[in-house]
Amino acid sequence: LLEQLADKLSNNHALTFEEYERLIARRTPAMAAGLARRAVAARKAVYGDAVFTRGLIEASSCCKNDCFYCGIRRSNGAARRYRLSADEIVECAHTGYDLGFRTFVLQGGEDSFFSDDVLCGVVSRIREAHPDCAVTLSFGERSRKSYERLFSAGAERYLLRHETASRELYARWHPADMSFDARMRCLSDLREIGYAVGVGFMVGAPFQTSADFARDLRFIETFQPEMCGIGPFVPHHATPFAAYGAGTVELTCYLLSIIRLIKPNVLLPATTALGTIAPDGREQGILAGANVVMPNLSPVAHRKDYDLYDNKICTGEEAAECRGCLGARMLSVGYRLVVDRGDMAPASSAC
Ligand code: 5AD
Ligand code: FES
Repeated sequence: LLEQLADKLSNNHALTFEEYERLIARRTPAMAAGLARRAVAARKAVYGDAVFTRGLIEASSCCKNDCFYCGIRRSNGAARRYRLSADEIVECAHTGYDLGFRTFVLQGGEDSFFSDDVLCGVVSRIREAHPDCAVTLSFGERSRKSYERLFSAGAERYLLRHETASRELYARWHPADMSFDARMRCLSDLREIGYAVGVGFMVGAPFQTSADFARDLRFIETFQPEMCGIGPFVPHHATPFAAYGAGTVELTCYLLSIIRLIKPNVLLPATTALGTIAPDGREQGILAGANVVMPNLSPVAHRKDYDLYDNKICTGEEAAECRGCLGARMLSVGYRLVVDRGDMAPASSAC
């Protein structure tokens, strides 16, 4: 019966809510292996053996939000806060460019220092210095006007994880001043403005059930994001969720395979969180259907302070080391790290 669901998913790129729920709740190792095999074939048909890489620049650990899972939440008085200056961010991008990167992800907490003027300045400076590069922003919820200005300044991609497509679960993970509707409004604004949009969610976070994942998968089917960042929940010691267990590589990889089959050309990172809960987590992610990795280009002096969850990897390495490390890791599982812009391929293209 599950095998039929796998066939249906591969052919139709869609299942019903109940079917997704069943696929997740009744999963077996054999089923996981079968889905991974189909996912790898689907990705190969679109992207061959290429794994895209983006240089990640963590611009600020200051955040006005208080998400219950996150180590840089505003209530964490023990968090060390930093923000890079505009010059420092541009400098990181130059370093990355020299290492071959042609796409950068600037990410940070919701920090009022990063006004539209400041961020537009950074984006246009990077785009002017390196017209062959793509800039992705990930600075949380902003007004439509703000997203429009950033787009005009040259940001073409925006990552805003939806976190969960379940309104009830969203309310259990966030304080009352954050809302599921606001998050969805931001995502539809980004889509309408013309960004390549990245959504995403955590796996194995407190209270999350198979039905919640089924909602996430239905959301991905309908929203059709260009990117989808999923990684295991990893507890942070100074948050309300400190005592909960981490998500697993197994379930994260299972969901990566399903998402690849829903959208064969989606850009799907093997995340740092996945590499944090297992030494070969990212390699396993690639073998389950992921096709993007994001080495860290942030200045080493601040790396430890972008402290979303405990034991985060890559906090001591220079940009070049991180890139080299990932290149070797991808080769070890038969993939080739490519450093071009890595735009999403058209739906039907095959290599
Ligand atoms: N474990 C895993 N991922 C986390 N994030 C925040 N806190 C954690 C955690 N404890 C993720 C959220 C957010 C992204 C920047 O990091 O999904 O969108
Ligand atoms: Fe950053 Fe291995 S990828 S050190």
